[in-house]
Amino acid sequence: MSIASNKDKSDLRLPKAGTIEIAPSILSADFARLADEIAQVESAGVNIVHLDVMDGHFVPNITIGPPVIAKLRKYSRLVFDSHLMISEPAKYAEHFVEAGANHITFHIEAADDPERLIDKLHKLGVTAGICLNPGTAVEAVESVAPLCDMVLVMTVNPGFGAQKFMPEAAKKISQIREIVGPEIRIEVDGGIDPQTTSIVVSYGADTLVAGNAIFSKSDRVAAINAIREACK
Ligand code: DX5
Ligand code: ZN
Repeated sequence: MSIASNKDKSDLRLPKAGTIEIAPSILSADFARLADEIAQVESAGVNIVHLDVMDGHFVPNITIGPPVIAKLRKYSRLVFDSHLMISEPAKYAEHFVEAGANHITFHIEAADDPERLIDKLHKLGVTAGICLNPGTAVEAVESVAPLCDMVLVMTVNPGFGAQKFMPEAAKKISQIREIVGPEIRIEVDGGIDPQTTSIVVSYGADTLVAGNAIFSKSDRVAAINAIREACK
C-alpha cells in the first residue's frame, strides 16, 4: 500500500481506499489560529484534515460547528473530514455539508436511523462514515458499515485529545476489515502516534487521525513524517 501525497489531488473527495492517509485532528491545534494551523499540515502533503465537532451533550466538551467550518473552507483545499460527536446528527448533517464538509462521520450510538442518514449524506453529495466508541461492539455497525465510505474506530472515549490509546478497542479494526473488505476505508482515532500507528495499520486501518502527536510538536511536518515512517 502506498502512502498518499496531495500532489495528484483533483477534487475534494475522500480518497478511494488503497492508500494510507494521515488526517491531522485540529483538537490539539491553536483554535485562535486554525487556518494557519491547517495550512501547516497541508504543507506536509496530507490530503485530509479531521474536524472534531462536539456538542457538550453527546460528549462532555464543546468545540466548533458549521460557522467555523464555513470560514475555514476559504483557506484550505484539504478534504474536510467532519467527525460529528453530537446528538441528533441527522438534524444537523445538511448544515455541515452546506458549510463545506466533504466527509461526514456520525456515531452509531447517536443515530436513530443510520441507514437513512447515510443515504441522505450520499444524496447531499458527500461521503459517509459510521463511528463506534470503545465500549460499542462491532455487531452494532455490522449492517451499516458496508453502506459507508469509511468506518471510524475510536481508540479513546471521545471528548478530549491527548488521551491514552486503548489497545483492546483497536482490535475491532481487524473484525471490521473482514466485514467491509478492502474497498471501504477504516479510520482510527485516539492516541495515534508513531508507536500505535504500526499496530493499527497491521490490523487493517488505512486512515489515521492524529491530534496531539502532530499539534503538540513545533515541527508539524516532521511529526507527520514520523507517522508516515511508522506506516512502512
Ligand atoms: C477525540 C477526538 C479525536 C482526538 C484525537 O474525541 O475525536 O479526533 O482529537 O486526538 P489525539 O490524537 O490527541 O488522541
Ligand atoms: Zn475525531
